[in-house]
Amino acid sequence: MARRLSTRKRPRREDKQLKERKKIESEVFDRQSMLVLGSFLNRGILKSVDYPIASGKEAVVFRATAGDKFEKDEEYVAVKIYRIETSDFVRMQDYIRGDPRFLGVKRAKRQIVYAWTRKEFRNLEICADAGVPAPTQYVFKDNVLLMQFLGEEGIPDSLLIDVGSDNPEKDCETLLGYVKKLYEKEFVHADISEFNVMMHGDVPYLIDVGQGVLLDHPKADEFLRRDVENILRYFRKYDVERNAEDVLKEVKASV
Ligand SMILES: Nc1ncnc2c1ncn2[C@@H]1O[C@H](COP(=O)(O)OP(=O)(O)OP(=O)(O)O)[C@@H](O)[C@H]1O
Ligand SMILES: [Mg+2]
Repeated sequence: MARRLSTRKRPRREDKQLKERKKIESEVFDRQSMLVLGSFLNRGILKSVDYPIASGKEAVVFRATAGDKFEKDEEYVAVKIYRIETSDFVRMQDYIRGDPRFLGVKRAKRQIVYAWTRKEFRNLEICADAGVPAPTQYVFKDNVLLMQFLGEEGIPDSLLIDVGSDNPEKDCETLLGYVKKLYEKEFVHADISEFNVMMHGDVPYLIDVGQGVLLDHPKADEFLRRDVENILRYFRKYDVERNAEDVLKEVKASV
């Protein structure tokens, strides 16, 4: 009897392994994401997944090394994996609802995160189309997005929040110019801030475009104002003074 009790108490090896696996899955990504990564590796699109560049609540971004079958002349690839479990899919729905490109997306959590990934890919296409610097989109599957790695000699570029601006007048103007160019394509990024701008040399790049919306989204105007105000707020500490209303007028004059 005593023996049976003690064996029952001792965690079984499989349990331990399962727990470990679950821990990795919840901390990094789920099995399905691993299978998708595996398929990119098997097909030679990626040679290796090297290390996480950043890990947040919604997504983990890795540097990966391009494989033999990768068609662009780039050594590295950025791999963004959206988390299924911890993503704020209620918030995501807010940005997907009202977007005619995503009618009929089922409400299931996984489906919403997949739609979000697809949306980020499409939004990167719009940036490219508008001639606004953002990572070139490569391919996506499920919740995994492959895009241009922004960095130099394998080292990822820094965010504006971390390096600051060497030329605030110019960088402020450049970013407002991006807002305008995107608006001309009937698109609003909807999360521009010093946290979502990477400095590639001296060129600011917009990243994290998943929440971007088309102008017919009910909150497009509100998001546009917030983007402009965020840019102006950031550069105000460098004594760059621009009036938000004037900027908004200028942006909208183009459409
Ligand atoms: N194309 C890229 N090349 C190199 N690094 C990148 C690239 N895209 C993103 N990163 C890095 O990964 C970080 C997170 O990326 P991103 O802002 O797109 O995700 P996120 O949605 O903000 O994730 P979370 O808010 O959950 O952290 C960025 O701050 C940046 O450091
Ligand atoms: Mg971000």
